[in-house]
Amino acid sequence: MEQKDIHSWSRPDLIRVRHLELDLDVNFDSRTLAGSVTLHLDRVAGDELVLDTRGLAIHSVDNAARHDLGSTDPILGAPLRVQLLPGATWVRVHYSTSRQASGLQWLDPPQTAGKLHPFLYTQSQAIHARSWIPLQDTPGVRVTFEATIRVPAGLRAVMGAEMSGSHFRMPQPVPSYLIALAAGDLEFRPLGERSGVYAEPSMIDAAAYEFADTEAMIGAVEAMYGPYRWGRYDLLVLPPSFPFGGMENPRLTFATPTVIAGDRSLVSLVAHELAHSWSGNLVTNATWSDFWLNEGFTVYVERRVLERLYGPDRAAMEAVLGRKQLDAEMASLREPDRVLHIDLTGRDPDDGCTLVPYEKGALLLRTIEQAVGRERFDAFLRAYFDHFAFRSITTADFLDYARRELPNHVPLDEWIFRPGIPAGAADPHSEVFERVESGWPTDTSAWSTHEWLHFLRSQDRPDMARLDREFHFTESRNSEILFQWLLMAVKAGYEPALPRVSPFLKSVGRRKFLKPLYTELMKTPDGRSMARAIYREARTGYHPIAQATIDGIVG
Ligand code: BES
Ligand code: ZN
Repeated sequence: MEQKDIHSWSRPDLIRVRHLELDLDVNFDSRTLAGSVTLHLDRVAGDELVLDTRGLAIHSVDNAARHDLGSTDPILGAPLRVQLLPGATWVRVHYSTSRQASGLQWLDPPQTAGKLHPFLYTQSQAIHARSWIPLQDTPGVRVTFEATIRVPAGLRAVMGAEMSGSHFRMPQPVPSYLIALAAGDLEFRPLGERSGVYAEPSMIDAAAYEFADTEAMIGAVEAMYGPYRWGRYDLLVLPPSFPFGGMENPRLTFATPTVIAGDRSLVSLVAHELAHSWSGNLVTNATWSDFWLNEGFTVYVERRVLERLYGPDRAAMEAVLGRKQLDAEMASLREPDRVLHIDLTGRDPDDGCTLVPYEKGALLLRTIEQAVGRERFDAFLRAYFDHFAFRSITTADFLDYARRELPNHVPLDEWIFRPGIPAGAADPHSEVFERVESGWPTDTSAWSTHEWLHFLRSQDRPDMARLDREFHFTESRNSEILFQWLLMAVKAGYEPALPRVSPFLKSVGRRKFLKPLYTELMKTPDGRSMARAIYREARTGYHPIAQATIDGIVG
């Protein structure tokens, strides 16, 4: 089972951390977390415990003979080597984080919805937990944890854990990338028996409306793949600089406010993050090369939820959009990056986060489903989640299990280890989209966001002026549609829409929007000066993860 994770200095095969106790002060003035973590250990061999750190100031280590912070690797950070006392089963590290911690974003009041209070949130996936906790930062190690978090008066701290006041507890073992904390001016609104939403007060009504189907989604996954094992499922709406659409922190999904469209049209994000409660959080990729086990399974389950709740047309549209985006992105990837089990030697695991693990992964599962029939495939998946529950597994573990439990003729090795889409792949198609393609539309009054996106993306040589005159895309308040439109406007040099590019790039921090827009701008001299002028102002408002991405594009 054991497979070395190249993105961690730790040696869990020798000494394994099994439980953490965090005790931290959140200090907005110095932009630091400061306090201690107590690590409880299972000792197998030797007396050197190696922890991952990045940018941490280590003040002292209790109950240890000595410790030494190694030199910093640009991707991995620095190993903290702790010499244990004979027989010791715990150590306590006193530390503080740096102002540049890659896993933390500190927001000033103007960067929040309410403008009055500061905000902090963590983003640990893939290897950023080590920038705010010294730990074995590999998804192959699971820990239970407890935490005491102190925040300034008037603010509320939340974690992906059981919460009671400033104390938190996660009784199920989770990988480090799922440890999450946020603090700000937060209000809570129940959505159902075991679900609810946290948001800034000015956002809470809109958020509760948008996510009203959450409880039904939980029921839908349970009906297919077995009980939800984490107690509560809540959502936390973050300020707009959150670099992702969503993050599946256990019990508390973190979500971008850009999915609050007012019409519930972008809630596939909730289906996705909720689905991770099975694929990812319950059965976890053991290394970042196995990331497709998290995301491919999740996209598959996400679309099954959409089908159950909103019907097959909706799921089919999402599948077709996904396939088209996959083909577009894959064309720009090097061959070795078009495989599911990706070689990340010498690379940041964030580099592997393309549509390949998501959409090629989901397409593989759809293809197996077609080969064996939905009933057998559902039984297989349900048994898979039970069999590997609360464990971290590799692609090889999946292959062994699939070959044993569900023999079929899908060429798994080709799908997983070779570039591109094998012959015989499932081929999603949508009748609704066929109607969209059948000519210039006459009645669009009932069109969904998906139809608009498909319509825009299927314009070969778009008549931007006519599109805008008839459908007013420049005025769109739907983040996905506006993003697609602005991207096309930059490509086409469509002047009337360009003034919206700057406010858009300054008001959202979602990497999926920023990366293509800045990339497109950088292709022309005018665009380049526009990109540089915008980025100069926008950069400090972006999350460190997004800054790193855009630094690489704009320079
Ligand atoms: N776990 C991912 C986000 C992630 C991946 C963070 C890799 C850091 C490294 C999350 O579940 C996700 O996939 N989010 C998507 C949205 C989803 C609807 C496809 C995103 O953020 O765009
Ligand atoms: Zn995901």
